[in-house]
Amino acid sequence: MFENFMAWIDKRLPVTEAWNKHVGQYPAPKNFNFWYFFGSLAMLVLVNQIVTGIWLTMNYEPSGDGAFASVEYIMRDVDYGWLLRYMHSTGASAFFIVVYLHMFRGLMYGSYQKPRELLWIFGMLIFLVLMAEAFMGYLLPWGNMSYWGAQVIISLFGAIPVIGDDLTTWIRGDYVISGATLNRFFALHVIALPLVLVVLVFLHILALHEVGSNNPEGTDIKKPKGSIPESEQSPFKYHESYTKKYDIVDAVPFHPYYSVKDIMGVVGFLLLFCWVMFFAPEGGGYFLEAPNFEPANALKTPEHIVPVWYFGPFYTILRVIPDKLLGMLGMFAAIGMLFALPWFDRGTVRSIRYRSKWHLLNLTQFAICFVILGILGTMPASDLANLIGRIATLGYFGFFIALWFYSKNEDTKPVPERMS
Ligand code: HEM
Repeated sequence: MFENFMAWIDKRLPVTEAWNKHVGQYPAPKNFNFWYFFGSLAMLVLVNQIVTGIWLTMNYEPSGDGAFASVEYIMRDVDYGWLLRYMHSTGASAFFIVVYLHMFRGLMYGSYQKPRELLWIFGMLIFLVLMAEAFMGYLLPWGNMSYWGAQVIISLFGAIPVIGDDLTTWIRGDYVISGATLNRFFALHVIALPLVLVVLVFLHILALHEVGSNNPEGTDIKKPKGSIPESEQSPFKYHESYTKKYDIVDAVPFHPYYSVKDIMGVVGFLLLFCWVMFFAPEGGGYFLEAPNFEPANALKTPEHIVPVWYFGPFYTILRVIPDKLLGMLGMFAAIGMLFALPWFDRGTVRSIRYRSKWHLLNLTQFAICFVILGILGTMPASDLANLIGRIATLGYFGFFIALWFYSKNEDTKPVPERMS
C-alpha cells in the first residue's frame, strides 16, 4: 500500500527523487569528524526556535503595556510555559554557540574556498539575519536591558551623516523606543525574519549539495569521470546527478551512515542543552541578563548596558573605536571581511592539516582575539579593557590582511589524492 501511495505522490511531486538526491544517495566524505555535527545541530536548533516561538506567541502580548506581564504570565501560569520560554531563550544562545563552531570548522578546513564561495555567502547571510532576529527578539520581553540595549544600538544609526536622525525615527516608528517599536520588532521577529532564515537555509543546503561537502582533509571526493578504475571507486550507489559527471571516491551515502552519526551528535547536544535549561537557564547571567527581570524603564538606565554574549565581539569593536561613525563602520567591516573571506584567501590548499605554520598561527590568533573581543563585550568599559580590545581588534582584521599576503605563495604540505 505504501509503495502504491508513494508511486502516486511521485508522479505528481518527485519526493523519492529528492530524498535520494539529498539524503539516501548523497555521497558524503567518509571522514567527517566532530566538527561536522554542527550543521545538523543548527537545523535542530532552528526547528526548536520556530516551534517554541509559535507556542510562546500564543500567550505573549506585543504591547508596551502588556509585554513584560505576559512573559511573567507565561512563566508562572501557562502550563509548561516556563519550559517553552527556557527552551527558546537557551535555544538562542545555543544557536550562536553552534553556528560559531560551524563557522570555525569552515575556517579550519577551508570550506569557504572554491567551489564553495556561494555556500559560504549564504551562510554569512544566515548569520546576518540570525543576528537581526536575536536583536529583535531581545526587545520582546520588554525588560530594562531589552529597552536600553535597543536604545543604544538603534541610536547608533544616528551617527550616519545627513539621514541619521530620520533613519533612527523610521526604525523606531517613534521619537523614542516605544510600543510602536515593540510591535514592529514583534512582526519582524515572528514572521518576516524566520521566513527569510528558512529560505536561506534551504538555499545553503542546495548550494552545498551542488558542489558537494568538503571534509577535514580538504580533498575532493569527486574525480573527473573515467579517471578512477571501478574497483577503486566508492562501492555504494549514488544519485545519477553525482555519478553522471564524476567518479566518486572515499564516500558513504549520507543515509544511514551520517543520519545515524548525527543522531549521536544530537543526543550529546541535548544532554548539555537540557542540563543548562533545567539547572542554569539564566546561563550565569549571560543567557538571561539580570536587569531584564525588571520591566523597561525609560527613567532608569541599567548600571552597565552590555549586549548578550553572542554580540560581544562585534560590540567591542564598535566600542573601542573612539568615533561613533567609525566604530559603526568598523563593526560592519568586521562582518564584511567574513563575507569576503573566500577572496582574501588566495591559497588552493584547504585544510589546516596541510597548510603552513603561518596559517595555523594566524587562525589561532584570530580565534583567541575573537574570544577576547567576546569576553570584553560583556564587561563594562575601562581604559585597560579598551586597550586590550584595540589590540584584539587589530588581531581580528590582521587575520584577513595577513592571509591575503601569505596565501598566494604559501609553504604548504602536499595534499594526498585519496584519504588514507
Ligand atoms: C541556521 C544556520 C545554519 C544551518 C542550519 C546550516 C546548515 C548546514 C548543514 C546541514 C551543513 C552540512 C553539514 C555540515 O557540513 O555540517 C552545512 C554546511 C556548511 N555550512 Fe552551514 N548552516 C548554517 C549557518 C552557516 C553559517 C553562518 C556559515 C558561515 C558563514 C555556514 C557555512 C557552511 C559551510 C562552509 C558548509 C560546508 C562545510 C563543509 O562541507 O566542510 N553555515 N550547513
